[in-house]
Amino acid sequence: MALGEAESDTDAAETLTATVIGGSGFTGGELLRLLDGHPNFEIRQATSRSYENKTIGAVHPNLRGRTLRFSDPAELESVDVLFAATPHGVSMERIDAFSEAADTVVDLSADFRLNTQEQYEEWYDGHSSPEYLEKSVYALPERNREKLPGTGLIAAGGCNATATILGLGPLFDSELLTGTEQVIVDVKVGSSEGGAGGGAASSHPERSGIVRPYAPTGHRHEAEIEQEFGISVSFTVHAVDMIRGASATCHVFPEGPVSKKELWSAYRESYADEPFMRIASGGSGVYRYPEPKAIAGTNYGDVGFELDPANKRIVVFSAIDNMMKGSAGQAVHAANIALGLEETAGLAFQGLHPVGAP
Ligand SMILES: NC(=O)c1ccc[n+]([C@@H]2O[C@H](COP(=O)([O-])OP(=O)(O)OC[C@H]3O[C@@H](n4cnc5c(N)ncnc54)[C@H](OP(=O)(O)O)[C@@H]3O)[C@@H](O)[C@H]2O)c1
Repeated sequence: MALGEAESDTDAAETLTATVIGGSGFTGGELLRLLDGHPNFEIRQATSRSYENKTIGAVHPNLRGRTLRFSDPAELESVDVLFAATPHGVSMERIDAFSEAADTVVDLSADFRLNTQEQYEEWYDGHSSPEYLEKSVYALPERNREKLPGTGLIAAGGCNATATILGLGPLFDSELLTGTEQVIVDVKVGSSEGGAGGGAASSHPERSGIVRPYAPTGHRHEAEIEQEFGISVSFTVHAVDMIRGASATCHVFPEGPVSKKELWSAYRESYADEPFMRIASGGSGVYRYPEPKAIAGTNYGDVGFELDPANKRIVVFSAIDNMMKGSAGQAVHAANIALGLEETAGLAFQGLHPVGAP
């Protein structure tokens, strides 16, 4: 079946076969963990050039005992769903082969998130398969759920963009921000965002103890956020001393007065029925606002907000696990919807508490 013609009403009891391209990486490892525990998926293939013939359990210690062996990504098996967890540029080069191998392709990279070739010229280094851009569905399921059933190409949203969009979405949807021109977003991220390769900036001695502005301006995820909301955002990203997590603090300056009641209504209306969204806003105790530690390892997104009337400001907090709600979890969530599976299948588990640094 060709890309874009996937069946949408898969029998919930049916077993679907899956491939993970880039299975030895961080998000690939998370995909393997999630698919391993998923009631509807059987992992048929996991690829890695560096670890070819090693078992997935040998590379990912949390999967110890799992004996599927990594294989060459050049030789694709025919499966129902192919997840690509590869660096930017790989999927756009191989999308013909990926869509030949699977009816549904879920890409975790940035290769199909933006709508036009012009955006890729502006924010990346262009695009080698622009004909696929109009076929892909940008997947934050909370934003695009209705577009997912039956789609053949899913582009899972970027981690920092996901944290920001989930935080700000209810404000834009409720029109509390009509006429607003200024949104400032500051995101703190953990080291796993850099992938298993990491590089010098992610090595333990360099990373330990830091609060380092690594993308003061011009972060590529700005493009996704602006595409979603249609206004420009001032976006800065800090690398901080944690492994998992993206925490977005958004400063919003509405044109007119906004009450706390209106804020609660906006967030409740958007997220009351969302299985993975939770509101943490004030109250008592230690965890009064969203924190990555509270959702580490899960597909939850926590959002919270406060009013600052003296400065005519709304401040919004949003926390996700970059490798879950910000990539692998989001990818599985979107695939569940696209394939007509139970939406929360394989993802309905809580995190740990108390727990060490995520
Ligand atoms: N890390 C995050 O928090 C995060 C969040 C959201 C989105 N993403 C996106 O998800 C993708 C994967 O990120 P990651 O952090 O998991 O990266 P990673 O840890 O560096 O893993 C990359 C994987 O891709 C494989 N790979 C590299 N080049 C390849 C090629 N040319 N053909 C086939 N396989 C190739 C690697 O294995 P071999 O080299 O052994 O083949 C490895 O398994 C990236 O596009 C990233 O931007 C990451």
